[in-house]
Amino acid sequence: MKFFLDTADLAEIEEAASWGALAGVTTNPTLYSRIGGKLDDFHDHIKRICELVDGPVSAESVAMTRDEIIADGRKLASIADNVVVKIPTMVEGLAATKVLASEGIAVNMTLCFSVPQAILAARSGARYISPFVGRFDDISEDGLTQLENVVAAVNNYDFGHDIEIIAASIRSANHVTQAALMGADIATVPFAVLKKCVEHPLTDRGLEAFLKDWEKVQNA
Ligand code: E4P
Repeated sequence: MKFFLDTADLAEIEEAASWGALAGVTTNPTLYSRIGGKLDDFHDHIKRICELVDGPVSAESVAMTRDEIIADGRKLASIADNVVVKIPTMVEGLAATKVLASEGIAVNMTLCFSVPQAILAARSGARYISPFVGRFDDISEDGLTQLENVVAAVNNYDFGHDIEIIAASIRSANHVTQAALMGADIATVPFAVLKKCVEHPLTDRGLEAFLKDWEKVQNA
């Protein structure tokens, strides 16, 4: 499984990239607003992210009609070769994806919550499909089972083009563990969760013991 960072924060992206496991970035309007992003600077900001990341960078269209999404998608795709246009799973989004995919523009179909939505996204030509986990947990439903169902269903078929499932709306290291066990191709994780993935209490305890014993060796 590959790790994408779910953020618009350049410092987080630079730090995660320095760890060597960063394969891509996903952004959304919420994440961009969280860093104080301004509309005028949106395309430049995506460009800066694309320069930092050696991999796909999802930039979301907030247009609501197919023609607007297509126009927006073409503009976003022209920012850099590694831009992926992120489009919500809805009728207008599917229609726009069909056109953009036929032009060779990679689409990440987002806000996906069910197997039928994922299959339709795949049929429309989406290169990436993002089933959300945490938003199910927010309403006391089982997001991990939904993700497992989407991974199994999409892998049942050959859609005639490469498709990668991105486990999205990831809120914990356990979500990451389960996504990997299910065979999700990618997990897009917030920086705080990525840090948690590095940590384990037994690693900390082991390190403490090594340092203590190394001190003894030095003083011997
Ligand atoms: C990524 O592509 C999604 O937009 C993101 O993972 C959503 O996460 P959230 O449910 O924590 O907002």
